[in-house]
Amino acid sequence: MANTILVGAQWGDEGKGKIIDVLTAKADIVVRSQGGNNAGHTVSHRDIKYILHLIPSGILRPGKVCVIGNGVVIDPIALLEEIDVLRKQGIRIGKNLLISDCAHLVLPYHRMLDEQRELRQGHTRIGTTKRGIGPAYGDKAARTGLRMSDLMQPIVFSKKLQAKVTENNRILQALGAKPVSFREVNETYLAAGKRLRPFVDNTVVYLHRAMERGKKILFEGAQGTFLDIDHGTYPYVTSSNTTAGGACTGSGVPPHRIDRVVGVMKAYTTRVGEGALPTEDMQLAQMFHDLGREFGATTGRKRRCGWFDAVATRYARMINGIDELAITNLDGLDSVDPIRVCVAYRLNGKRLDVPPSDAKQLGNCEPIYKEVRGWNTPIHSARTFSQLPSAARKYVRYISELTGAKLSMISVGPARGETIIL
Ligand code: GDP
Ligand code: IMO
Ligand code: MG
Repeated sequence: MANTILVGAQWGDEGKGKIIDVLTAKADIVVRSQGGNNAGHTVSHRDIKYILHLIPSGILRPGKVCVIGNGVVIDPIALLEEIDVLRKQGIRIGKNLLISDCAHLVLPYHRMLDEQRELRQGHTRIGTTKRGIGPAYGDKAARTGLRMSDLMQPIVFSKKLQAKVTENNRILQALGAKPVSFREVNETYLAAGKRLRPFVDNTVVYLHRAMERGKKILFEGAQGTFLDIDHGTYPYVTSSNTTAGGACTGSGVPPHRIDRVVGVMKAYTTRVGEGALPTEDMQLAQMFHDLGREFGATTGRKRRCGWFDAVATRYARMINGIDELAITNLDGLDSVDPIRVCVAYRLNGKRLDVPPSDAKQLGNCEPIYKEVRGWNTPIHSARTFSQLPSAARKYVRYISELTGAKLSMISVGPARGETIIL
């Protein structure tokens, strides 16, 4: 395997963590290049469930190096908590973790502003994870953010923080929220910075030197294509480029060094938070929730659920340049018959083959469905394509054909082994 970008082809939570864990076996380095601890990537191995938020899922495999790239926004307190939890679970974290000195910091006022904006927006809220992601990327774009390199220089950090706290406290007070204490934030962040110091480096140079030595890099996308700040269902999106291009800008690895793009998609569709979800189906959601499935890995919220949307995944293939598909959660449809697949949308009497850019128009789209036969039997023990029931084989072939990319992996359960590689 050469350098591979893995992206979510839907609205996030496609099972990227599980697929990364499988692909890491053949990679040397795993890189996160965007997003923050809004992500929740689940890996199940030997009956232990690991949930990764900021640290690449590759950390679970000994001998692999994990990089948090320049495009990620890091809440240092949350990162240290994650490191502590993983260590308690027996995972070694030391020289196998590198953090870019250019990564921006998420500060307590970002989280509070995120919360206040959501509160104030009422029914037009985005349904964010309230992790401060939007305000942190906002500061980055406004060129007023604090970066990991600032945190490594206590005097510089305190000075910049003082100015930012003064500015943000005025805003928070105007919104009727509690101001943050400079002294408290300064102390806790500097202490966190001290603990994080051994991990911080120029990760661009590290990755380029590794490539010169023939090391293989796997880029772990967070969120999904339709949460992308440019290509997603704006404004109901996150604040980073979740699509393939974000892996390059967020890591400093140039586009011509990328060899393939793998798109991960569920065999159906889910979304957490607000915004259009054309194939949403309440009965399907109820069925998944009754089975204890489809609850958010970060916030625990119930995920909204719907049928597979080929209009969306075809567009995702285009934007990301998806070469290969990994279809997850196929076992979720074990007892569903018939299964519906959205092949086009109808808007104002017209048939659409690509999603409209406008969020309101997307919300008004009616899915045009094709129905296919279900398989009505558990499939979690299948390990080869031929061991899948014929109706399941037909279904995955059909959705890969509609998406327009080669099928390379099928996941039939959360565990590492519950995977069919084609
Ligand atoms: P991510 O954010 O894309 O990494 O996905 P999440 O971890 O948030 O959500 C995916 C959920 O599906 C997690 O609970 C996984 O353990 C689970 N999962 C992944 N693949 C499969 C699968 O093939 N079958 C089942 N039953 N669960 C899966
Ligand atoms: P992974 O990596 C699913 C959603 C939020 C909200 C919107 C904006 O686990 O797939 P934000 O906190 O980023 O400002 O929220 O994006 N969202 C996700 N949905 N999976 C994720 O990550 C998500 N990260 C953010 O629910 O709708
Ligand atoms: Mg997730």
